[in-house]
Amino acid sequence: MDPYRKNNQALWNEWTRINAASTMYRLDEFIAGENKLNPLEISEVGPVAGRSLLHLQCHFGMDTLSWARLGANVTGVDFSDEAIRLAQKLSQQTGLPGRFICCDLYDLPQHLTEAFDIVYTSYGVLSWLPDLPNWAKLAARYLKPGGIFYIAEFHPLSMMLDETAEQPVLRYPYFKEGPVEFAVQGSYADPTAECAVKTEYDWFYTLEGVITSLLAAGLKLEFVHEFPYTVYPQLPYLVRGEDGYWHMPPHQPALPLLFSIRAQK
Ligand SMILES: C[S@@+](CC[C@H](N)C(=O)[O-])C[C@H]1O[C@@H](n2cnc3c(N)ncnc32)[C@H](O)[C@@H]1O
Repeated sequence: MDPYRKNNQALWNEWTRINAASTMYRLDEFIAGENKLNPLEISEVGPVAGRSLLHLQCHFGMDTLSWARLGANVTGVDFSDEAIRLAQKLSQQTGLPGRFICCDLYDLPQHLTEAFDIVYTSYGVLSWLPDLPNWAKLAARYLKPGGIFYIAEFHPLSMMLDETAEQPVLRYPYFKEGPVEFAVQGSYADPTAECAVKTEYDWFYTLEGVITSLLAAGLKLEFVHEFPYTVYPQLPYLVRGEDGYWHMPPHQPALPLLFSIRAQK
């Protein structure tokens, strides 16, 4: 693993501890029986009962086990050993069956050979990946013929906005090679928390880059959707709508904040 991903792995071990204790994740609600998936991915992925589902970059497994709560047979993969340990503990604690594998995404073929009905990944995954064409090949490799790949992710345009400004201001380029170093302040779920790792390394992605990679991997696109709302207050001026999602304030132009893609092998 390159030194950038090694750094990020240590960061995600720290963030697992911070996020699990945060009011954003509300682990207590999940343990008490709540499903932590958003209506968006539940409706767009469709019925999962009895189907095998591979969750790429599953963090500490709350979403993975939420799919299990809907009846899927789940496998989650993440390179943070703290996250995988917590996912396994949550599986035991809730009685929701799940298999969790700790490895770098690109090393997955050394740990897993079977194919799945659904390959799923979501919210905050792509900016950690240095190689989208190989990511897409992996997603395709783990699908059975006719199987479904699904991603819901922060829109790359929303990643251009200054996260410290009080109104929309473009700060970051759309087109840029990674890795790019950013200073870390706590975690996105709790910026006030003490975090021993002080930097993160990100790769910029474009919508074109994601789509072209999936097509080149042989997947057939069913849809690409863009949404003017997002799933957490990633910018300080977003307002929570009655639908539970975070929107631009009414006096600001609507911008794409999320996208989703569904494709078939
Ligand atoms: C933002 S989280 C995914 C969030 C997930 N939707 C959630 O909230 O539960 C991104 C995850 O990607 C994992 N990750 C980052 N780079 C990775 C890599 N190269 N291989 C495997 N996992 C990786 C991190 O450990 C982290 O758990």
